[in-house]
Amino acid sequence: MKAKELRPSGHSSGWHARETDIMNETRTKVVAFNGSARKNGNTAILLRTVLKELEAEGIETELIQLSGAKIHGCLACRKCSTKKDRRCSQTGDMGNAYIEKMEAADGILLGSPTYVADITPEIKALMDRACLVSKANGGIFRRKVGAAVVAVRRAGAIHAFDSLNHFFLISEMIVPGSSYWNIGYGREIGDVEKDEEGMQTMKTLGQNMAWLLKKIKSEA
Ligand SMILES: Cc1cc2nc3c(=O)[nH]c(=O)nc-3n(C[C@H](O)[C@H](O)[C@H](O)COP(=O)(O)O)c2cc1C
Repeated sequence: MKAKELRPSGHSSGWHARETDIMNETRTKVVAFNGSARKNGNTAILLRTVLKELEAEGIETELIQLSGAKIHGCLACRKCSTKKDRRCSQTGDMGNAYIEKMEAADGILLGSPTYVADITPEIKALMDRACLVSKANGGIFRRKVGAAVVAVRRAGAIHAFDSLNHFFLISEMIVPGSSYWNIGYGREIGDVEKDEEGMQTMKTLGQNMAWLLKKIKSEA
């Protein structure tokens, strides 16, 4: 079998995998999206903490940062419902590349900082487009594993967390829990690392997500 080619992306760190693993098409993959306008900020730190646990269990991971990426909201054109080609009709931005990444993954992590007690426009744009494309095509994310991660300075995180979870639940995805809701506290970059409980919540989330992915994969 020919080694699978990994597409480079300007917005991602690429799949982390050993060459031998790349040969194995059945390897479990998780893609994480950081919706923050601030690349490598607190949301990225939280997401990487979850990803580290997944990697420790042999799961391939990729972190995609939406900061600076061209991603428009849904146009409500409904062309995805008529074309049914598993993609969005808007082709001039990163939307379809991200939907493709989501479709190829076994697990999806959505991360957002809290902006005015909600999620960022970038992650909302991705969620809206992916949601409609999935619905138009019979549920392309059905039974994948999904989890949300939120960074916050003080208040509004639970609302942002709920917003992200709406995507997984309407997409028929399976959502693992942690020891608390997946929230990390901090304002300046790196502050979340001082939130011990938040960091532990991310680690436990990664472990639970890995456990669930393995169970699902072994039953498939
Ligand atoms: C536009 C904007 C709105 C924000 N709104 C809130 C808010 O409603 N509640 C809050 O506690 N923090 C708010 N913050 C602070 C961020 O949530 C916090 O700094 C977070 O750690 C940023 O994560 P990041 O480093 O991944 O961007 C806001 C920040 C920005 C830039």
